[in-house]
Amino acid sequence: ETVEWEAASYDMGGHDTYMHKEISEQPDAVDRVLRGRIDDRFSTVHLGGLNLDAREARTIRRIKILGCGTSYHAGLIGAGLIESMARIPADAEPASEFRYRNPVVDPDTLYIAVSQSGETYDVLAAVQELKRKGARVLGVVNVVGSAIAREADGGVYVHAGPEVCVVSTKCFTNTVVAFALLALHLGRIRDLSVTDGKRIIEGLRKLPAQISEILESEEEIKKLAEQYAGAQSMMFIGRVRGYPVALEASLKLKEISYIHAEAYPASELKHGPLALIEPALPTVAIVPNDDLLEKNRAALEEIKARSGRILAVAHQPQEKADHTIVVPKNEDELDPILMGIPLQLFAYHTALAMGRDIDKPRNLAKSVTVE
Ligand code: G6P
Repeated sequence: ETVEWEAASYDMGGHDTYMHKEISEQPDAVDRVLRGRIDDRFSTVHLGGLNLDAREARTIRRIKILGCGTSYHAGLIGAGLIESMARIPADAEPASEFRYRNPVVDPDTLYIAVSQSGETYDVLAAVQELKRKGARVLGVVNVVGSAIAREADGGVYVHAGPEVCVVSTKCFTNTVVAFALLALHLGRIRDLSVTDGKRIIEGLRKLPAQISEILESEEEIKKLAEQYAGAQSMMFIGRVRGYPVALEASLKLKEISYIHAEAYPASELKHGPLALIEPALPTVAIVPNDDLLEKNRAALEEIKARSGRILAVAHQPQEKADHTIVVPKNEDELDPILMGIPLQLFAYHTALAMGRDIDKPRNLAKSVTVE
């Protein structure tokens, strides 16, 4: 099965950069990954290429997700989605780390390789090593017919369309949505109720319009980015579901603006990074309106008490923050998908204000097909 991407997809379509084009394509891209997969009758989703029947799905004891860079971060969010919806212990690890630590390969574990290109050498090598040891490996891949897609036992295509900019935006979002579909599918085979299945499906259907809503605040985000563009370094914090969002936002910023950025779980602040907080080190905080809201607010207070500047991404303005980017609320599980999107625009406009080559950042390649 091969799909030829139309030449028109490579046209910049009036945008100044591929990154901007790809960010703005996300409502359509998400629509595509959902299309034809939702089953309202059983409040579940059908994933044609999964190659894993219900009986097999019930025997999975653990899920291990492997990827590199942005795909690894998508995998971290994916692991959270799988744990919360399917109640299967899941975690993600950089594919190269996994490969070099002579991992214990367990027959009851389902391995999932994540890759936009489907060609990243470290991921491919991990897949081949796993298959050699008899493991079952699925792929969550964008490029149809790519090496990892061919090597895997089955999987989910993320249907984001071609991504040209070296840094990943729409593929990241679509990969996370693909994980939400997989988590819902596994959840409904196991213990996720019809009611929760319906709730997640309604949330998924809201995503494209909510992403469009976020994209409409671009001017406001641009102004904020211009204020933060002079920073030497930035801190990104989030808790549980928000932590991988912080990791990905910090990666995006460093890749294209070359501002040093690091991400920490908000709960770890007091165990070290609080020592760095001062007016010259701004913090971007992921503050969803969920059961951890009060905990996250306490972290903002800690930072404020040390005169740190704070930019919050939240569902309502945060009193302790200097600025808040307000995003629409979805179901708690799906909030991470939306909270990362304004920070793509934030990284973009920060890099633009600094005159960076956004589509081709120094020292980086779109896909790393060698060791
Ligand atoms: C390179 C790119 C990253 C990407 C990573 C994994 O390092 O610069 O943007 O996230 O490869 O790529 P993949 O195609 O496997 O998702």
